[in-house]
Amino acid sequence: MNAVAHSLPASPAQADLPSRMAEVNAATAQTRDIALELCALTRTFELGRGLFRKPHPLKAVDDVSLRLYRGETLGLVGESGCGKSTLAKMLLGLVTPTTGSILVDGRQIDPRGARQLAQRIQPVFQDPYSSLNPRKTVAQIVGLPLWLHKRGTAAEQAAEVKRMLDLVGMPERTHGQYPNQLSGGQRQRVAIARALILRPAILICDEPTSALDVSVQAQIFNLLLDLKAEFGLSYLFISHDLGVVEHLADRVAVMYRGSIVEQNSCEQIFSNPKHPYTRTLLSSVLTPAPGLGLPGPDALHAPPPSGD
Ligand SMILES: Nc1ncnc2c1ncn2[C@@H]1O[C@H](COP(=O)(O)OP(=O)(O)OP(=O)(O)O)[C@@H](O)[C@H]1O
Ligand SMILES: [Mg+2]
Repeated sequence: MNAVAHSLPASPAQADLPSRMAEVNAATAQTRDIALELCALTRTFELGRGLFRKPHPLKAVDDVSLRLYRGETLGLVGESGCGKSTLAKMLLGLVTPTTGSILVDGRQIDPRGARQLAQRIQPVFQDPYSSLNPRKTVAQIVGLPLWLHKRGTAAEQAAEVKRMLDLVGMPERTHGQYPNQLSGGQRQRVAIARALILRPAILICDEPTSALDVSVQAQIFNLLLDLKAEFGLSYLFISHDLGVVEHLADRVAVMYRGSIVEQNSCEQIFSNPKHPYTRTLLSSVLTPAPGLGLPGPDALHAPPPSGD
C-alpha cells in the first residue's frame, strides 16, 4: 500500500483541486456498477406531539430514489433543513426509513442492521470533535471498529491502525494523544482513518470540512481524493458549499424540501441547470443574504428535469 499521506503537497492549494479531481475520478469511475441504490426512501417525523395535541407529520425525506455508482462522487446539495443529513443517517443505519429500501451492491440492506451497514458504508461528519471519544487515544479510536468486528489478532489490529494513521498523514507521535490535543484538521484525519479502517466501499461525507479553516479544508479534500484513488471508494458528498461540490463531484443531486428535484452530471448542473430551484440555488451563492430569492413551493410544480 502506498503511503498516501506522503504524496500530499506540503501546502496544497485549493486551485489544484479541479485537475486533481478530474485525474482521480477518471481513474476510479471506469464502470457504471451501482454501489448504492436508494429506492423511494421516505422519513417522516411526528412533530408537536402533546397530551391534547395531535402530532403533525414532517416529511424530512420524501420519496428519494438515487444511485451512487462505484468509484464516483455524488454531490448532494440543498438549503439548510432540506433533509440531507436525515438521508445520510438512514444510509448509516442511524435513522430508520419510514418507507423505501436501500440496496448495497445490489442487495437489500436492513436499515436497522447498523453492524452490517458499517462494513460497507462509513461516515465522515462535519464536527470530528463531537464524534471522537475524548477519553480514548487516537490509536484506540481508530482501532475500536476492528476490535468490535473482531478483525485479526491484537498485534494485527495495532499494525493496521498504524498503517491507516500513516496513510492519513498522522505522525507517530500523535497516535497516543487524545482528541483535545489535536488540531481540527488532525481530528478530521483521525475520523477519516476510523471511517476507513474496516475498508468500506462507500463514504458518506456530511459537510466534512465546514468546521475547518479554509487552508485545512484543501488538505482534507486532497486527502479524500488520494484515499478515493487508493481504495476505489465511492463518495456521497453533502455540502452547502457549491464551489466545493463543483470541484469534487462527478454528478450532483439537488434536494429541496425532502425531495430530489434535479440530478445530473456536475457539468450540466452548473452550466445548464434545468429546475428553477437549482437555478435559484446557484444564483443565491452570490446573494448577500442566503435565504433571499429562494423559490416557494410553486417552483416544484415546474416540469420535471431530464437527466439521470
Ligand atoms: N430527530 C428529528 N426529529 C424531528 N425532526 C427532525 C429530526 N431530525 C431532523 N428533523 C427535521 O428534518 C428536517 C431535515 O433536517 P436535516 O438535518 O436532514 O437537514 P439538512 O439538510 O441536513 O440541514 P443542514 O444543511 O442545516 O445540515 C428539518 O426540518 C429538521 O428539523
Ligand atoms: Mg445536515
